Amino acid sequence: MSERVERGFFLFFFFLLLALKVRGSGYEKCDFFSGTWVLDESYPLYQPSTCPFIEREFRCEANGRPDLIYTHYRWHPLACNLLRFDGRDFLEKMRGKSIMFVGDSLSRNQWQSLTCLLHSAVPNSNYTLARVGDVSIFTFTEYRVKVMLDRNVYLVDVVKEKIGRVLKLDSIEGSKLWQGIDMLIFNTWHWWYRRGPTQPWDYIQVGNKILKDMDRMNAFEEALKTWAKWVDTNVDPTKVKVFFQGISPSHYNGSLWNEPSAKSCIRQKTPVSGLTYPGGLPPAVAVLKGVLGTIKKPVTLLDITTLSLLRKDGHPSIYGLGGAAGMDCSHWCLAGVPDTWNEILYNLI
Ligand SMILES: *[C@@H]1O[C@H](CO)[C@@H](O)[C@H](O)[C@H]1NC(C)=O
Ligand SMILES: *[C@@H]1O[C@H](CO)[C@@H](O)[C@H](O)[C@H]1NC(C)=O
Repeated sequence: MSERVERGFFLFFFFLLLALKVRGSGYEKCDFFSGTWVLDESYPLYQPSTCPFIEREFRCEANGRPDLIYTHYRWHPLACNLLRFDGRDFLEKMRGKSIMFVGDSLSRNQWQSLTCLLHSAVPNSNYTLARVGDVSIFTFTEYRVKVMLDRNVYLVDVVKEKIGRVLKLDSIEGSKLWQGIDMLIFNTWHWWYRRGPTQPWDYIQVGNKILKDMDRMNAFEEALKTWAKWVDTNVDPTKVKVFFQGISPSHYNGSLWNEPSAKSCIRQKTPVSGLTYPGGLPPAVAVLKGVLGTIKKPVTLLDITTLSLLRKDGHPSIYGLGGAAGMDCSHWCLAGVPDTWNEILYNLI
């Protein structure tokens, strides 16, 4: 009798282990970042009108964008289904914790998307929105969850000195703001090629050398290495989860999606079909992956470039901050593509 019970237990655990192993390996095989966009009328995940704090630059529908099909696409990875974003579950998982996006306006885009996704899940739950210096803090008071944004376009420092503003590729004092945060999501890219009056520095410093300028991709790489060193020195992986947002692509050249007559993203109403983008990946992706590959601490890349490249229809175009005179094919409408970045983030935690 007892032998049979033992045998039963043995078989039970054997199959339990087998089941867990199969499930585990299935999960590991699933690449969330390769897939296709499918129409799904149950999307978007929230109506922009239920998110009163979306900034004007992302509020395409309110700015007069007439077509809305672009809001009804769901990202479908090839090998598995993404769990639909569940704001209550996300807040429960993060109860008492802090999340910080660090980067440029693409970080702001994803930060606003996440606050909208969460607020629309618990519309009657109180929140506060405050700004302290460069940091915006959105707090879900009931859950004690803070969703923050640290505006920091290069991750490394720009310091005012006698000679002018110096972009210091080896200096990362701005990291003081990242201490004690439970989840960090970094991004930098769009400002590295900025020149002329909106370039926010006069000199660039590498080691002891002060330069008037240098190859911008090399500068980007040096800054990433400085950031990588910061991660390896300062992050305790048992306490802090680190993500990198990945390179968010722009759409100003239709030749790259086989529509040479298109000079921007205006009037694009549907995604590129298929799995790959005809124009290929921006070179910054390889540089970023190279540096991430050298980090010893766990850092998860939200590898959103390809899925976003396919979304030539997802940008504000003339329904953004600049209005009819502007042409924004860099940021993303909300509701829209950054909701998918956050849906993947939700599936990763
Ligand atoms: C929200 O705040 C108001 C005013 O401070 C308070 O009366 C109410 O109970 C709060 N609601 C929740 C769900 O905590
Ligand atoms: C657009 O992309 C094509 C293909 O790479 C390239 O030949 C062309 O110079 C680009 N046009 C502009 C305006 O950058």
